[in-house]
Amino acid sequence: MTQDELKQRVGQAAADYVNAHVPEGSIIGVGTGSTANCFIDALAASKSRYRGAVSSSLATTARLESHGFKVFDLNDVDTVPVYVDGADEIDASGAMIKGGGGALTREKIVASVAEVFVCIADASKRVDVMGTFPLPIEVVPMARTAIGRKVAALGGVPIVRVTQDGMPFITDNGNEIIDVKSLSITDPRGLEAQINAWPGVVTVGLFAARGADLCLLGTEQGVERIDY
Ligand code: 5RP
Repeated sequence: MTQDELKQRVGQAAADYVNAHVPEGSIIGVGTGSTANCFIDALAASKSRYRGAVSSSLATTARLESHGFKVFDLNDVDTVPVYVDGADEIDASGAMIKGGGGALTREKIVASVAEVFVCIADASKRVDVMGTFPLPIEVVPMARTAIGRKVAALGGVPIVRVTQDGMPFITDNGNEIIDVKSLSITDPRGLEAQINAWPGVVTVGLFAARGADLCLLGTEQGVERIDY
């Protein structure tokens, strides 16, 4: 089975989970990326069950709207019973690296409001120790070099994310991203708190303080549910 087929499988499993556990008329929190897209496509079949969605990126908003979902501003929403999103890595505690698609800040905001965070991932994302996937940090552009020095002092290798044209990658919030290579993240909560405290950091793509509550992991044997 290809990685794309595994993603479709967990996207469908997440739609089944939401349809079974989330009350009708709810507003669903929706993440960003290829796995989240599979979830959106699968949930579209039951969209009349929901008032709409809160989106974590402009790309996700466009995909939701293409299916006819109403997309709400988070400021106009009182409760988000569930947030469904992918991950770049997830460890045994449900802590994740996210932000490979650059949407980490809005993802973290919606996740912080949601009652339940459902991570959807193919089996390649499960790791013992995070850090093989470069850790994204969204930064205010004028702080890019200063934050790069702090990253290097931690033993990481900071790489400013660029587009295919070689231009700085700009997030939906108008900021830049530093991807940090060569970290072995043995204390995800501690590192998340440390990096978030640096001036100029908007968000670090470590989701440990608010990790996943459960993961639907796509494997060759089927979808495995892991509760944290
Ligand atoms: C985007 C994310 C994504 O959830 C993460 O990059 C996983 O993406 P994909 O499902 O395409 O593998 O954090 O900012």
